[in-house]
Amino acid sequence: MFSNSLIELDRAHLVHPVASYRTHETLGVRVLASASGATVTDATGKQLVDGFAGLWCVNAGYGHDSIVEAAAKQMRELPYATGYFGLGSEPAIRLAAELADRAPGDLNHVYFTLGGSDAVDSTVRFIRYYWNARGKPNKDQFISIEQGYHGSSTVGAGLTALPAFHAGFGLPFDWQHKIPSHYAYRNPAGTDPQAIIAASVAALKQKVEQLGAERIAAFYAEPIQGSGGVLVPPKGWMKAMRDVCRTFDILFVADEVITGFGRTGPLFACTEDEIVPDFLTVAKGLTSGYVPMGALFMSEHVYQTIAEAAGTSAVGHGYTYSAHPVSAAVGLEVLRLYEGGLLENGRKAGARLMAGLESLRDHPLVGDVRGRGMLAAVELVVDKERKTPLPAGADPARRIFDRAWQNGLIVRAFANGVLGYAPPLCCTDSDIDAIVERTRQTLDETLADPTVRAAMV
Ligand SMILES: Cc1ncc(COP(=O)(O)O)c(C=O)c1O
Repeated sequence: MFSNSLIELDRAHLVHPVASYRTHETLGVRVLASASGATVTDATGKQLVDGFAGLWCVNAGYGHDSIVEAAAKQMRELPYATGYFGLGSEPAIRLAAELADRAPGDLNHVYFTLGGSDAVDSTVRFIRYYWNARGKPNKDQFISIEQGYHGSSTVGAGLTALPAFHAGFGLPFDWQHKIPSHYAYRNPAGTDPQAIIAASVAALKQKVEQLGAERIAAFYAEPIQGSGGVLVPPKGWMKAMRDVCRTFDILFVADEVITGFGRTGPLFACTEDEIVPDFLTVAKGLTSGYVPMGALFMSEHVYQTIAEAAGTSAVGHGYTYSAHPVSAAVGLEVLRLYEGGLLENGRKAGARLMAGLESLRDHPLVGDVRGRGMLAAVELVVDKERKTPLPAGADPARRIFDRAWQNGLIVRAFANGVLGYAPPLCCTDSDIDAIVERTRQTLDETLADPTVRAAMV
């Protein structure tokens, strides 16, 4: 009764992100009620292993009392402090310092946001300011990558390269350009890592030539493309792209909103890629999803250029909730937990997850298995030789998600038949084994789907 009335209220009033409003009205909401570790419980009492950590964000896992305590303590002492007027709060200052200490290279300056989209949006503002400061206002063209995701803000959604974020919104803007993804499983250059890197380098150079280096402000890349289907570039890809940008005086933005905070192993994936970008964006794992917060890191030269140009004038960029003390207190505690064992556990669990998913390769529907650490994907096809995707009529996003749900597992089911995994770093061996076993069961049921069967013959 309670849950039915919630479904009605939701249908009538709550607009859901990235949803077909009409389909959602028909299907109704599934209400989540509680969670602990890697397990969530819905309003009917059904328990599921959360193989996606909410929205790849609850990296620490659910139910950490110490995080709750840190937030409650901060709320009691000082629930809000503005950063305007030269004011500040201890947790925000400490978190900025702790993060700068751990960030790659000279990414020493941190601007806090409320999430990833406004972190990306803020980079666009700072980059424009930077090039104006350097007397190059014509450097106003931005390049990102097909299948990339950089959030849902008005300009960030144009850097994003997923059709649903453009259609009907008048995006992308004419100053937002794309180059093809490294998408190793389907790269026209083949599967050789060096050939894939060479193809991306050539594509970026070609774009630079076409637009003119003197026009290009910045290049955006995710260390692993998340929302595009967990596309893992070959080792050395980020470094090669970073080098091209340096050659042509193009700012390099590493979007680590998903890959940050242990998702691929270390705190920042850029460390493994052995690069220092000019900007680095984070969110999600920064507070493990317990409260909203994102951030961008600015390298020393960017910060100094902006500061010098502004002189005694204000740099006109700010949010009421930038550097929110409660979010910062949570961020500090989450960081303590990561370094107190969660990163280590995540590395072990990630190895087990990858081995488990690899064992699914013999399944008739599995075309590709890829990932790094606790970020992985299984790509389904109906013909392994031709790499034919599942037919749209099989409605993978809905039906595979539903089957997994029935089997007690939450995964990301992309519309093209890719299954995405990003479990909490706290996963036990049995959580990981359950993710793999329930995936196999879900694949078997998908194989029995008449639409899938018909596409296979
Ligand atoms: C790489 C990347 N950038 C930006 C964002 C946007 O973050 P948010 O949803 O917190 O606004 C996301 C969200 O998934 C992301 O994956």
